[in-house]
Amino acid sequence: MTEKKAQLRVDGIAEPLDLPVYAGSTGPDVVDVRGLTAKGIFTFDPGFMSTASCESKITYIDGDAGVLLYRGYPIEQLAEKSDYLECCYLLLNGELPTPQQKAEFVNAIRYHTMVHEQIHHFFNGFPRNAHPMAIMVGVVGALSAFYHDSLNIDNEEHRKVAALRLIAKMPTLAAMCYKYSIGQPFMYPRNDLDFSANFLYMMFGTPCETYQPSPVLTDAMDKIFLLHADHEQNASTSTVRLAGSTGANPYACISSGITALWGPAHGGANEAVLKMLNEIGDESNIDKFIKKAKDKDDPFRLMGFGHRVYKNFDPRAKVMRETCQNVLAELGKENDPLLKIAIKLEKIALEDNYFIERNLYPNVDFYSGIILKAIGIPVNLFTVIFATGRTPGWVAHWHEMISNPFKIGRPRQLYTGATQRDYPG
Ligand code: SDX
Repeated sequence: MTEKKAQLRVDGIAEPLDLPVYAGSTGPDVVDVRGLTAKGIFTFDPGFMSTASCESKITYIDGDAGVLLYRGYPIEQLAEKSDYLECCYLLLNGELPTPQQKAEFVNAIRYHTMVHEQIHHFFNGFPRNAHPMAIMVGVVGALSAFYHDSLNIDNEEHRKVAALRLIAKMPTLAAMCYKYSIGQPFMYPRNDLDFSANFLYMMFGTPCETYQPSPVLTDAMDKIFLLHADHEQNASTSTVRLAGSTGANPYACISSGITALWGPAHGGANEAVLKMLNEIGDESNIDKFIKKAKDKDDPFRLMGFGHRVYKNFDPRAKVMRETCQNVLAELGKENDPLLKIAIKLEKIALEDNYFIERNLYPNVDFYSGIILKAIGIPVNLFTVIFATGRTPGWVAHWHEMISNPFKIGRPRQLYTGATQRDYPG
């Protein structure tokens, strides 16, 4: 990193504080504030709006320009030319695989898709109507119990096996959540199917008849996983890094990421978008909901709109919108009422000053739910799909941190509570 300088003058500290400034390969410079603690002062940045928590080489976002790069490759090009497992390899290893490397990686994932038979019994402890994210938090964390042989995070081979197991088993567990909720038997993964086709098979296949996933839905599913694969230091990835910084095992770290993703402000937004579109119900009601979204006294927000980093279109939303229209047209559902409401809602919001002034654009969650619904995924499984897609990103960031010198994450605070006082009597 090239070094520039910043100077900080603080009342009460005689000398100005010289702080190193680092430039990355692209994006904003950072001011290294680590020396401030020795001077008895902290930075204050609730929500980490202006804080770079780490150095990373995995994903780059330019929020103003609406750019998203996985290891330097634009998401639009990857969505058009690559596929999900190739992007998993890219995120984990930093380079696109050779044809042989890809074949070996696909095969390695394929032979990790089954889960231990005992895992099936975990599901019986949940009510049939349990939210699948509650099950995923529990079952993914519990994977630790089955892999004692590969939990030494200082061992590169153990780290690699954990990465393969997590990427490979998430779709199997996701499909098991669905099957459990509808009382159908779990479907074992099939080694003759590619990753996303296998997921649809485990979701919608039954032992009673042959199920061949449709190529259109398989492609749409693969694109959804790819578009969700990573997104820099978002809330759930930062959670995975923080958990990993304590030395916790990778299964526990990914379970913490699933927990953070669940919130409606983050990965839970896709489920919230569908609920919102259903609540709007008809294009004639859109203005009422736009008004609610703008009302300071109303907690309602336009779900699927806005982003901490993107102050332009989320590039994933553009690809998602195109995929949405293609999938619905292929399925003969181009007149899907929810899609019509979504397109009208987007148009109205993008012309409204409230949204323009705040740079509120559709994000990745705005259209994904409509595609998932068209594929037949139940609404309460949408965030599980997001978690499945995001697993390679979480694992890549965990691996990047663990593979380099790291310190336990331990933020400080601005304390405004009671100062020391004696217990009465
Ligand atoms: C994801 O970080 C990532 O990278 C996340 C993600 C990933 O891939 O990991 O991209 C995935 O989480 C996408 C975001 C999904 N969430 C939603 O769609 C929920 C709705 N969006 C909002 O909750 C909100 O936009 C956030 C949480 C996404 C961003 O919130 P910020 O950056 O903290 O912005 P803010 O709340 O300070 O809002 C700024 C202003 C406020 O108004 P003022 O106080 O300035 O008057 O914009 C308003 C907000 O009230 N605003 C909205 C709004 N989002 C922000 N008003 C109405 N509807 C909205 N959706």
